[in-house]
Order: sequence, then structure tokens, then C-alpha cells
Amino acid sequence: MSEANAQLKERVRAFWQEHPCGTKFADASPGSRRFYELVEEHRYQKEWHIPAAADFSKAHGKKVLEIGCGLGTDGAQFALAGADYTGIDLTDAAVDLARRRFDLFNLPGAFRTADAENLDFPDESFDVVWAQESVAHPPHQGKQAFLREAYRVLRPGGRLMVEDAFRYRRPYPDEDEAFLHTFLSGWAIADIPTNEEFVTWTEEVGFHDLEQSDITANILPSMRYLYRMGLLLYPSEVPLRMLRIRSACQHANARSSLLQWRAYKKGLWYVQTLIARK
Ligand SMILES: C[S@@+](CC[C@H](N)C(=O)[O-])C[C@H]1O[C@@H](n2cnc3c(N)ncnc32)[C@H](O)[C@@H]1O
Repeated sequence: MSEANAQLKERVRAFWQEHPCGTKFADASPGSRRFYELVEEHRYQKEWHIPAAADFSKAHGKKVLEIGCGLGTDGAQFALAGADYTGIDLTDAAVDLARRRFDLFNLPGAFRTADAENLDFPDESFDVVWAQESVAHPPHQGKQAFLREAYRVLRPGGRLMVEDAFRYRRPYPDEDEAFLHTFLSGWAIADIPTNEEFVTWTEEVGFHDLEQSDITANILPSMRYLYRMGLLLYPSEVPLRMLRIRSACQHANARSSLLQWRAYKKGLWYVQTLIARK
């Protein structure tokens, strides 16, 4: 791994270690029963398409690997549906909280702190790989490594299911590129691929029967919610950052809540699901 990629990986890890994904949507003590209930309520209210995209209802008896499991919210749905679920995440913070959730709700599942680019699972050991908003993080070589690893650990006929952010084309005019990158860096993302790039990489590793679906309209409630929160909170973020009460990471993240909406309005990115078969 190049020095730049290693640094980016550390930035991604530090970012999510500091803000386990989804914690900001729950006004309850992290790790409490109420906390997980609020995270789940927010997730499926604002991103109601996820249960269908992840196909929870068809997971019974399947061996499911989730890449970037966050707080284990989707993991819990897989486990409840009767899947043999394993969640991995780059950060101990996510894995600890996801594991706690499973313990608290008495759900079966396994967790590991691990890197999607280098999985410690035998070949052909899963029926499904689910990755929701985690593939965007590594640079392009890392995304390709993620796809190679997903292919390797899936059994023949197994399915890769991804939901993530994409750009419409490359390059945009300089000003738009700069805008997009400022927004993405607040989420610890170096760049997002075009559909053509991602499809090429997916097919190159051997996947076939690709199905894609633009689901941007489905995530608008979540985007609008973040934008409104950003409008409300960002003015106080600036002095809090100057007083070092908010970290650089928290500050950039708050700013990106505003920028992601504006970047969407400028037509710079969209969200799609991609399903592929091994
Ligand atoms: C946007 S969050 C999504 C989490 C979860 N899917 C959800 O929606 O709640 C991205 C997650 O991917 C994880 N992640 C990022 N890069 C990763 C990698 N290379 N390997 C494993 N996990 C990674 C982060 O630590 C973070 O928890």
C-alpha cells in the first residue's frame, strides 16, 4: 500500500473511531437499549429502502458478511431473519458497539475488526456480502481490492450487494471537482467512482449479472435532515472549533452535512445499489 493510501486509511479509521456511524442520530447514551432503538428507528424511517436493498427477508439460512457494519443495525435485521451473520468494520468502536447491540438484544452473530481490502476469511465462505456506504472510503485501488476480496470469500452463485455514492462523470470542471472533494473529505472519502469505473472493476474480478438502481430519491429525506441539522448547528460549530471544543474531524463532518446537499443540487453525485453474482 502506498504511503498516501496508508495515510488515508488511518484518516478513515480515525474518523469513524471518533464518530461511530449513526451515533449522532440517537439522543441516548451510546450502548444503551434506547440508543439502538433510536438509531434503528431513524435509519429505516429516513432510508426506508434499505430492508429491500439488503434483502433481509430472504436471508434465512444464508451466510452473510457485512463490510463496514457500523453499529450493527442492518446486522440485527439479518440475524432476526435467520441469517448466519458476520460483521466487520475498520474500527474497534463500531465493532464494540455492534457486538454490544447483539448481546443486549440476544442476537446471534460474529464480529471482527478488519479491513475490507484484506479479509481473514477462507475462500467461498459466504452466500452474501452486503456493504452499505463503506466501499466509498478507500481510494480506487482499495475499492478494487474490496471487490477482489468480496469475490474471493463468496461461494459460486453468491451475491454482492452494495449501496454507495457515485459521480456522474470524470472529470468535472475544476471548481466542481474542488467542491465535490471538499464535501467528500468531510466524510473521510478521497473520491467516488463513476458507474462505468465501478462496473468495470466489478466485472474485472469476475462478477456477472449486474443490476444497478439509482436510489438517490430514497435518501433525500436523510440528506434533507442532515442539511437542516447543519443549517441549525453550523453557526455554533465555527466558534466551537476555534475554541478547540470541536475536533477538526467533527468540524469537517458538520460542514459536509451542508455541502453534500449543495453538491447534490449541483448534480455532482448520486447514490445507487449494485447487485452482482459470482
Ligand atoms: C458510512 S459508515 C456505514 C456503516 C453502516 N453500513 C451503516 O450504515 O450504519 C461506513 C463504515 O465503513 C467502515 N469502513 C470504512 N472503510 C473500511 C474498510 N476498509 N474496511 C472495513 N470497514 C470500513 C467505517 O469504519 C464505518 O463504520
